[in-house]
Amino acid sequence: MSDKKASLSIDGKTLDLKVHSGTIGPDVIEVSALTGNGYFTYDPGFVSTAACESKITYIDGDKGVLLHGGYPIEQLAEHSDYLETCYLLLYGALPNASQKEAFVNKVRMHTMVNDQMSTFFKGFRRDAHPMAIMCGVVGALSAFYHDSLDITDEKHREISAIRLIAKMPTLAAMTYKYTIGQPFMYPQNHLSYSENFLHMMFGNPCEQDKVNPVLAKAMDKIFLLHADHEQNASTSTVRLAGSTGANPFACISAGIAALWGPSHGGANEAVLEMLNEIGDASRIDEFVAKAKDKDDPFRLMGFGHRVYKNFDPRAKVMKLAADEVLAELGLENDPLLVIAKRLEQIALEDEYFVERKLYPNVDFYSGIILKAIGIPTSMFTVIFALGRTPGWIAHWNEMISGSYRIGRPRQLYTGPAQRDFVPLDKR
Ligand code: CMC
Repeated sequence: MSDKKASLSIDGKTLDLKVHSGTIGPDVIEVSALTGNGYFTYDPGFVSTAACESKITYIDGDKGVLLHGGYPIEQLAEHSDYLETCYLLLYGALPNASQKEAFVNKVRMHTMVNDQMSTFFKGFRRDAHPMAIMCGVVGALSAFYHDSLDITDEKHREISAIRLIAKMPTLAAMTYKYTIGQPFMYPQNHLSYSENFLHMMFGNPCEQDKVNPVLAKAMDKIFLLHADHEQNASTSTVRLAGSTGANPFACISAGIAALWGPSHGGANEAVLEMLNEIGDASRIDEFVAKAKDKDDPFRLMGFGHRVYKNFDPRAKVMKLAADEVLAELGLENDPLLVIAKRLEQIALEDEYFVERKLYPNVDFYSGIILKAIGIPTSMFTVIFALGRTPGWIAHWNEMISGSYRIGRPRQLYTGPAQRDFVPLDKR
């Protein structure tokens, strides 16, 4: 709590409100006293509402800062790796060498899914969207792991976290293999997390595959850059679902559903669709004009962010990774990439985008790398879900291990006042 006090005057009454200070960031006014006095706050889209206290991730959107456990994302991207960042999110500190080895080994020992899971896939149409399949199969994990569903038991929560992080690449790759009619590939536990994912995606049982280390490194960076982003829509969904006491697999499945939308994780897929639709650099101006037209719902996908009103720090790292991958694959002159680069330049100079601080976001560049690696567009949001899993589970665990109440927002009711029922023959 801070020494500061806030007060609110309404209907001749003055209410004193507590003010809380975090380690960094703006002070937060506690409004819980309003309810007892007959008022609620109104904040559509939760733009001014802190829904919880958290120690995991900090964002300063104006300065373009993202910290996990206090460490800047740029430093983690350069010196750490995905599984180490998962550890940091889950346990609040970087591991020492033996802790890291033990954690990596634990994840490695849980990569396989129950064989019965493969029969679930057969229930889906082959042309189902991979995110539709992911919502189903991740939620279905709760039907297989009855031994770790006691959310009040710390060990159960930990093993569920490991299982989710370990099995997401396996399920994601199975989803892809199912949609293209190829056999599922078993995980190979001598491979690293990202190598294993690429092996299960692109390998086949008839040939020995060799994973390109540059692509595996880029994949690891994509996972790391997506690992957490504080109280975004999908994480808040996971927390809300979890606040009812639902099991972690069900909660993460809810997070996957929330992530799917084009304003959130679905944007990386939408970026590529947009670049394809533009088709040629000569049509860029037409699409920029559409994005600026208030009567046209079209938006430039991969631009803008609810929190960042500066360059998304993840996008800076992702842009460098994109350059590395494209050079490795000799794709610098790929026509879609030429359109993307030109679009980025126009948006960074155009008054409309500059005034509104609409910078390219992480999804703008991740789509370009994923396309270059050969990941089909429909799998892009699945990759985001895979990367975000440790963040979701860390927030869920933080909530469950502390004191929490069921999430229950209120509303400003504008429907009809009470009225008497009218029988059918009188309407
Ligand atoms: N293209 C054109 N205009 C835009 C765009 C865009 N991409 N984004 C925002 N605007 C305009 C918007 O029309 C509004 O203009 P005005 O003030 O004249 O009415 C102004 O900028 C503010 O927009 P907003 O809708 O109030 O901003 P928001 O914080 O509610 O929305 C957003 C944030 C990310 C949903 C939005 O910028 C958007 O739809 N971007 C495209 C989708 C996208 O790339 N999403 C991925 C976000 S990053 C990954 C993640 O965290 O999930």
